[in-house]
Amino acid sequence: MKAAVYQSYGSPSVLKIQNIAKPELKANELLVKIAYSTVTSGDTRLRSSNFPPLFWLPARLIFGLFKPKKQVLGHEFAGVVAEVGSEVKNYAIGDRVFGTTTMLKGGAYAEYVALPEKWKNGVLAHLPKALDFQEAAALPIGGMTASYLLEKAQIKAEEKILIYGASGSVGSFALQLAKHKGAIVSTFSSASNFSWLKALGADALYDYTDFDFDNFSEGYDIVLDAVGKLGKSRAKSLLNKGGRFVSVEMLTKERENDLKELGNLAAAGHLKAYIDRSYTLSEIAEAHRYVDSGRKRGNLLIEIV
Ligand SMILES: NC(=O)c1ccc[n+]([C@@H]2O[C@H](COP(=O)([O-])OP(=O)(O)OC[C@H]3O[C@@H](n4cnc5c(N)ncnc54)[C@H](OP(=O)(O)O)[C@@H]3O)[C@@H](O)[C@H]2O)c1
Repeated sequence: MKAAVYQSYGSPSVLKIQNIAKPELKANELLVKIAYSTVTSGDTRLRSSNFPPLFWLPARLIFGLFKPKKQVLGHEFAGVVAEVGSEVKNYAIGDRVFGTTTMLKGGAYAEYVALPEKWKNGVLAHLPKALDFQEAAALPIGGMTASYLLEKAQIKAEEKILIYGASGSVGSFALQLAKHKGAIVSTFSSASNFSWLKALGADALYDYTDFDFDNFSEGYDIVLDAVGKLGKSRAKSLLNKGGRFVSVEMLTKERENDLKELGNLAAAGHLKAYIDRSYTLSEIAEAHRYVDSGRKRGNLLIEIV
């Protein structure tokens, strides 16, 4: 099968299109024919081994000290079940599914991936009828991270939340989910992203490239740093008494119920994965280059053709 493989850490040029063996299925696994994957910030981080200094060694011990253990990236996907192992109970050939490949051997930059029905770190679910593959492929990672952080912040209707870095994947999902819960949402992004963030529901928009935090008197019940660049002390200075700060730098969990909920919200038209650009698998290096630029808006699709 065709796949984008990387055998050493480095720039996007380490990603090579190759023919590799189709995964062999274990009894508890299903084989998914991938329709779409994405390039998440996590994919580029693993490719480049760009881990924070304190976590560099532990990360390399987990992901491969001298070369990557998981040589096919692609942490989220949507596709169709092509084969099922004898112990698989809840999926059948032809089912439309979406999910993640977190901590599995194989990734979704390939024609096929083998996944267990359930495993500790990642999730898989059926795709609601009204949802297409493009939209579904971009929901899991950013959507589940946003859901987890909003739940951790115990968001309630009428509360004021500030989303810093609302133009990324996590940020644009957090904005929509917070609005859906009835919160009043302010966003920080560059001015070039104002119009689509306003269309997603932002109540007040601020430009992070031209902003005087020291003379800003607004207070928030929740500050959610969706790009990990605000800093804890600045975030705390923006909180009302008893306010809560959450950030993408915190450990988060992928939860099946969150994935199902995201699918249902998207199918009902309450949530939209903003797609900045689409590439084919053979353009994967170019797609990674764009994400490396740090300017990605929302999500980047990869069509597996
Ligand atoms: N904890 C988790 O499980 C988890 C899961 C997913 C992602 N993450 C992390 O979350 C972070 C965000 O990932 P993502 O994919 O959602 O977004 P992303 O694609 O990394 O974010 C890109 C966006 O961030 C904006 N941006 C860049 N610098 C900024 C700054 N200083 N202030 C405000 N906005 C800024 C850019 O807008 P401009 O072009 O206008 O600057 C761009 O639209 C990454 O660090 C990622 O590793 C964590």
